[in-house]
Amino acid sequence: MYQKNLSTEAIDRTNHLSRIKNGVLLVCFFILILPLYQCTGQVTASETSYTYKNGDRNGIGKWYMGREIAHVMGFQGMGWLDRPEREAEENTSKLLRNMRISMGDMIADIGAGSGFHVFRMAPLVGDGRIYAVDIQDEMLAALRTRKQNGKFKNITLIKGNRKSANLPENSVDKVLMVDVYHEFAYPFEMITSIKKALRPDGELYLIEYRGEDPAVPIKRLHKMTEAQAVKEMQAAGMKLERNIDNLPWQHCMVFVKE
Ligand SMILES: C[S@@+](CC[C@H](N)C(=O)[O-])C[C@H]1O[C@@H](n2cnc3c(N)ncnc32)[C@H](O)[C@@H]1O
Repeated sequence: MYQKNLSTEAIDRTNHLSRIKNGVLLVCFFILILPLYQCTGQVTASETSYTYKNGDRNGIGKWYMGREIAHVMGFQGMGWLDRPEREAEENTSKLLRNMRISMGDMIADIGAGSGFHVFRMAPLVGDGRIYAVDIQDEMLAALRTRKQNGKFKNITLIKGNRKSANLPENSVDKVLMVDVYHEFAYPFEMITSIKKALRPDGELYLIEYRGEDPAVPIKRLHKMTEAQAVKEMQAAGMKLERNIDNLPWQHCMVFVKE
């Protein structure tokens, strides 16, 4: 009886010690290992989640990685997108040269708007294709009219949604996004969907008004800094290959899959 009691006591003591050991291991994980993991540059779930608070009047009150997302530019702004002085202000010809477009290229213009870039790129790809993606029916209607009037055969219109570009997987060599990323309501989901559509050597051209430059006459929320863009793209698995610094107002950032 005494023997039995003694061995029960020994088992209790062993269980108690093993509970203490597990507790110590758990504390070590939270105090030592987890911060180390975070220091490696890995992005944590809380950093990539969306938060909500009032901010700028041009913003939607939804924040991503420290940046407030801008309102989508309504179709009423079409006239501004097609303004005659735009070529001089943004040097679109140089942007298209930066893209090194070849005959046969499959290119997606995401947030194509009324097609300012679409109709300049279409003649450069020959039997390739331009996918013009937008979420607003009015923009797609304007694209359709222009496409029919110009008898363009190599342009496909796609209605995207706020989380997906609705492009086939592994279908494009290049993606162009001019003045749109900052207004994506779901930037992480959009880049994830775009990454799937890009071929392995595909390039994403992210064109945003330079947030670092107060001389660029655009509202703050409609500009972006390179540091912010890199942080957000990295969170979705894209890395900056180069930023071509030759446009008057915009960054021309080329991202590739990590
Ligand atoms: C400021 S306009 C720029 C249009 C065009 N890229 C240009 O530079 O002329 C932004 C366009 O992106 C579209 N857009 C916003 N969010 C989008 C999304 N998640 N997917 C596709 N298009 C989107 C808007 O409907 C709008 O037509």
